[in-house]
Amino acid sequence: MRTFRNILITGGAGFIGSNMIRYLLTGDSGFTGRIINVDALTYAGNAESLADIAEHFGGGSTPRYVFIQADIRNRQNLERIFNEYQIDAVIHFAAESHVDRSIVGPESFVTTNVLGTYTLLEVARQYWQDRFGTLAEAPVLFHHISTDEVYGSLGATGYFTEDTPYDPRSPYSASKAASDHLVMAYHHTYGLPVTLTNCSNNYGPYQFPEKLIPLMILNMLENKALPVYGDGKNIRDWLYVEDHNRAVWLVMREGRVGEKYNIGGENEWENIQLVHALIDIVAEETGKRAEDLRRLITFVKDRPGHDRRYAIDCSKIKKELGWRQSVNFPEGLRHTVRWYLTHQSWIQHVRSGEYRHWIEKNYSNR
Ligand code: NAD
Ligand code: TYD
Repeated sequence: MRTFRNILITGGAGFIGSNMIRYLLTGDSGFTGRIINVDALTYAGNAESLADIAEHFGGGSTPRYVFIQADIRNRQNLERIFNEYQIDAVIHFAAESHVDRSIVGPESFVTTNVLGTYTLLEVARQYWQDRFGTLAEAPVLFHHISTDEVYGSLGATGYFTEDTPYDPRSPYSASKAASDHLVMAYHHTYGLPVTLTNCSNNYGPYQFPEKLIPLMILNMLENKALPVYGDGKNIRDWLYVEDHNRAVWLVMREGRVGEKYNIGGENEWENIQLVHALIDIVAEETGKRAEDLRRLITFVKDRPGHDRRYAIDCSKIKKELGWRQSVNFPEGLRHTVRWYLTHQSWIQHVRSGEYRHWIEKNYSNR
């Protein structure tokens, strides 16, 4: 089993990254080293999501948690961080992650997801090469976080396996596909020790409220329209965020270097079915009437190029590493609804400023 001392986590102030840091430092991961969280704090990043972690683990002469506001496109910053903190593992979450934004403005998706990943790979390669003299045998790992969206869109049947050819359809998924290829190229060309995971849609606490599940919950609380794209029958496979992070940690410690692993919920829902399920939970949790909430459902113009169905075959990680999903969907959704009900100040904070400005410019109905 691989062990790590100083893990650089990029994008650790975002949804999945902040949950990962929480899991590594306070969950049953067994990790005893230090985390360096490097995040540019774009509209999607909130240091506040880890305020308690910074308080408990960020002090003293040997802090186990260090936050650095920095952009992964800035090579000098990254070089300094690798040197100063003697990084021996990277978990690369940082990305522009919202498909709708990639349609409105793809440029930052290319610069962060493609060029940023390239810059990080290059700095890791040079730092580890200099420190160990060899890459293939170095006790280090670059773990890249990716998405099932790189595989394209499925019809009513079939599943994405690790061998499914890449067929990205949105600027977001195209930029993630490019970054996956670069990661694998660095392994094959330079011997950089890498692992890569492609996961389905995550949900849970701290997800930015422009994504389907938190957006619907918050709009219900505020009696705003629930915008369902197209006919509402697009299908996504949902996984609780901590199950994703447990899988990533397992791959990092026990997965085969140079391999990619699919991670999924085996939990497919049509968007409209999911909205109805959320309505039932929000009604129960708040005392609002489900019929009133259902009246808020508004079918809106479809997303251009909207992928019809994603579904993951995750038998490889199950068979090879013994991973399983642990949170069932009704429980995970209820927990998520309760989290948003009890974290009003986080919500108000992340929805102010730049996010509000973008919504007002691009959508008039929210
Ligand atoms: P997010 O948008 O919530 O967080 C992204 C984080 O990256 C933010 O904190 C942001 O400030 C930071 N960031 C953006 N550009 C940066 C830059 N140039 N330099 C440094 N930091 C930067 O995203 P998320 O949902 O947590 O997704 C994290 C990763 O997981 C992404 O790589 C995404 O492609 C992948 N992924 C997400 C899902 C999902 O359902 N959310 C599913 C599969 C894979
Ligand atoms: P999203 O959370 O943006 O994730 P992704 O597009 O990466 O899968 O959207 C999930 C699904 O929900 C997707 O099919 C688009 C749909 N959707 C809506 O119908 N309405 C909305 O307001 C949003 C944000 C998404």
